[in-house]
Amino acid sequence: MKNFLSIESCTKESLVSLVNSAELLKEARVCGDFSDDSLKNQCWGIIFSKASTRTRVSFEVGIRELGGSALFLSPKDLQLGRGEPIKDTARVMGRMLHGAIIRNDSQVEVESFAEFSKIPTINALTDMEHPCQIIADLLTIKEIQGTWDDKKIVFLGDVNCNVAHSWVWAAERLGFELILTGPSEICNPLEYLKKVGATKAHYVDNPLEAVIGANVLYTDVWVSMGMEDQASERDGHFNAYQINQQLTSIADSDAMVMHCLPAYREKESSETVFEENAETIFSQAENRLHAQKAIMKSLVT
Ligand code: CP
Ligand code: NVA
Repeated sequence: MKNFLSIESCTKESLVSLVNSAELLKEARVCGDFSDDSLKNQCWGIIFSKASTRTRVSFEVGIRELGGSALFLSPKDLQLGRGEPIKDTARVMGRMLHGAIIRNDSQVEVESFAEFSKIPTINALTDMEHPCQIIADLLTIKEIQGTWDDKKIVFLGDVNCNVAHSWVWAAERLGFELILTGPSEICNPLEYLKKVGATKAHYVDNPLEAVIGANVLYTDVWVSMGMEDQASERDGHFNAYQINQQLTSIADSDAMVMHCLPAYREKESSETVFEENAETIFSQAENRLHAQKAIMKSLVT
């Protein structure tokens, strides 16, 4: 039984294969070819305890396009929300559903669900990782830059968040250079990099130094879901890490600006730089659909 729980648990070959498969699924869709019915007669559960626009819609559409059906299950409506253990929920769902997609604040719980349900389980964002996002991002970089090999990718902002962690693992697995730059007094990633044993991902405190010659400038929200109580404490610390014209002028002249979204203007990115790069950023969002179809297909075939 196969799961997609983290970039950490992926090999270089599996990451490359998922991106290639996503590219083919995208090409087929553009041609109106929906003949791939890898999820025919299957019903997948989408169990999200956090908000979502892109991940939810792309999974629901993707499941239907692959011939299956989707059931959105909010934990507050399930007995899970009244304290039923995850391993019992998993054992019930495992007898009825063909796969599960989970978004919550506990990587441990998602891994426990996978173990007890024995059905293909996908991490749709936890406290630790956001692996689906990274497959879509890699596809977007491949489409625009041709390859991620030999590229310098700079992640600016909350360098200890789930998306940043998944990027660290992507760099380690695929071998490109990743620079993390963010306020060390709020989100120092050195402990995480040490735990990973990172050789490709590095922390640079000064954003003006970090982005020199960068091929990709990538950002995420400064306050992740579930951390809203830290918003005022964080306020003001991230300003130097905003992607704006000063930083883009130091990066490579062909540098891509990426944002996993949702975006808060004049926070992670200036309005001007965001809109100048909107085509890239919304292709990145669209690529969630193709990436996740590839992920689900890989788990059932
Ligand atoms: N990037 C992302 O996962 O977006 P949603 O939170 O809208 O799903
Ligand atoms: N780090 C963000 C990602 C949102 C897609 C969060 O967890 O809220």
